[in-house]
Amino acid sequence: MKSILLLFTVLLIFGCSQQRGNSKVGDGAAYYSEQYRPQYHFSPDSMWMNDPNGMVFYEGEYHLFYQYYPDSNVWGPMHWGHAVSPDMVRWQHLPIALYPDDYGYIFSGSAVVDENNTSGLGVDGKAPMAAIFTYHDPVGAAKGEVDYQNQGLAFSNDKGRTWTKYGEPVLKNPGIIDFRDPKVSWREEFGMWVMTLAVQDHIEFYSSTNLLDWRKTGEFGKETGAHGGVWECPDLFPIEADGSDEIKWVLLVSINPGGPHGGSATQYFIGDFNGKTFNTDQTEIKWLDQGSDNYAGVTWSGIPNSDGRRLFLGWMSNWLYAQIVPTERWRSAMTIPRELVLSEINNDFILKSVPVKELESLRETEIKPTITTVSGNLLINMEGVPVMRSEMIFDFQANESTHEFGIQLSNEKGEKVRIGYSRDESKIFVDRTEAGVSSFLDEFAALHTVSYVAGESLHFHVFVDEASVEVFVDGGKAVLTDIVFPGLPYNKIELFSARGSVEVSFARIWGLASIW
Ligand code: FRU
Repeated sequence: MKSILLLFTVLLIFGCSQQRGNSKVGDGAAYYSEQYRPQYHFSPDSMWMNDPNGMVFYEGEYHLFYQYYPDSNVWGPMHWGHAVSPDMVRWQHLPIALYPDDYGYIFSGSAVVDENNTSGLGVDGKAPMAAIFTYHDPVGAAKGEVDYQNQGLAFSNDKGRTWTKYGEPVLKNPGIIDFRDPKVSWREEFGMWVMTLAVQDHIEFYSSTNLLDWRKTGEFGKETGAHGGVWECPDLFPIEADGSDEIKWVLLVSINPGGPHGGSATQYFIGDFNGKTFNTDQTEIKWLDQGSDNYAGVTWSGIPNSDGRRLFLGWMSNWLYAQIVPTERWRSAMTIPRELVLSEINNDFILKSVPVKELESLRETEIKPTITTVSGNLLINMEGVPVMRSEMIFDFQANESTHEFGIQLSNEKGEKVRIGYSRDESKIFVDRTEAGVSSFLDEFAALHTVSYVAGESLHFHVFVDEASVEVFVDGGKAVLTDIVFPGLPYNKIELFSARGSVEVSFARIWGLASIW
């Protein structure tokens, strides 16, 4: 009897939590409470996830589709999973949006709202949503054919709840193995749709007036940028530079392998787009994020002009180890949503990433440590705030004695992540060499650094979740996103200053709410 009751209780809890997953925000029970389960990042309820796809804002909802394999916790036949959010922070899981079919798996792509019904796929005078993605035909690939990646389309007339496939691919493969990840946007200034497509070692641009017939207009990149791997998941958008009215075009290009720390990473180019092709005089390679775990990220379409932000989300993992990290029920999460901001600094443009302001709604408890000078290690009294679900801001001021300083998260096992700045080397670092479990791959336990010439003061904004740290320095001029797998939760935060002291002019820590 007891065991039947237990079974009943388990079923009830599981049943409820499934429902919670489909609505929002749980009350903390068993749902989303496994070891390493992100508490305020998006992760699939179960099984394998990679790239964010089809990010589009429509009628008050941010849509997030994602590369999803519902039958295993490693990569396989790709579907588009689906979730919606009112604020990019709290997510509601929806049923799978797109299943593989006779044309193949559903690889990465984008979604748009066809405001003027240029495609004719809308009904009752309402704008349809269109998803443009890559069909990857596994049969053709296995046979050694070259044209097994083609661009397909599906549309929805019910706010993305159900999708109808258009059928035949709308853009056929010209005989190139890697031909994928279409990012489509309506370009009012040119009066047409523009598709940005990753083609092996370069980007191709296509245009259309109806989303169905596409014509190649240009290509970019064979001789520019990082080329240590295949180019994937591009994005192209205009953006006004911070504090000026100059408009530049930004081209995001993910690359795998060939990232600065091995495996995958996202580079960006700043230049101009004339409606046909992209040009830049940039010679230096620029990375969007200098950590190891921000890949295949793109920006939301359909953001109203009244908002005007360029909003970004990336896959918080790396193809080097994504399939072998120590989680079972699900694999991987997305980064926190970020606003991309273009700044002109010393006659050069940089693309900054800034946590979106909506994240502030997660703040539950606040600590205001009174710290003035740090020399050696200084333990912060966390007053019951969970380190593993926290956000913190520290402003450091260097003095003549300052060498190396920062923030250390650690646990009872002595595992630690060190986040900081070396003045001697002019480098920001995230050191996860002793962060926790890393036996799944030797290269995982690494020190990630980025060259950065700081002034006297340095502003650190850090988000910590169950299996990640996201570090934004000086308003997003440098960003490092790294996943970590501590054997026990980190429960201590210390500030450190090695071989000299450092002043702290501002310190704030927030405990964050779980979204599940
Ligand atoms: C990037 C990527 C894309 C592809 C998808 C397949 O991570 O390789 O190029 O469309 O993943 O899942």
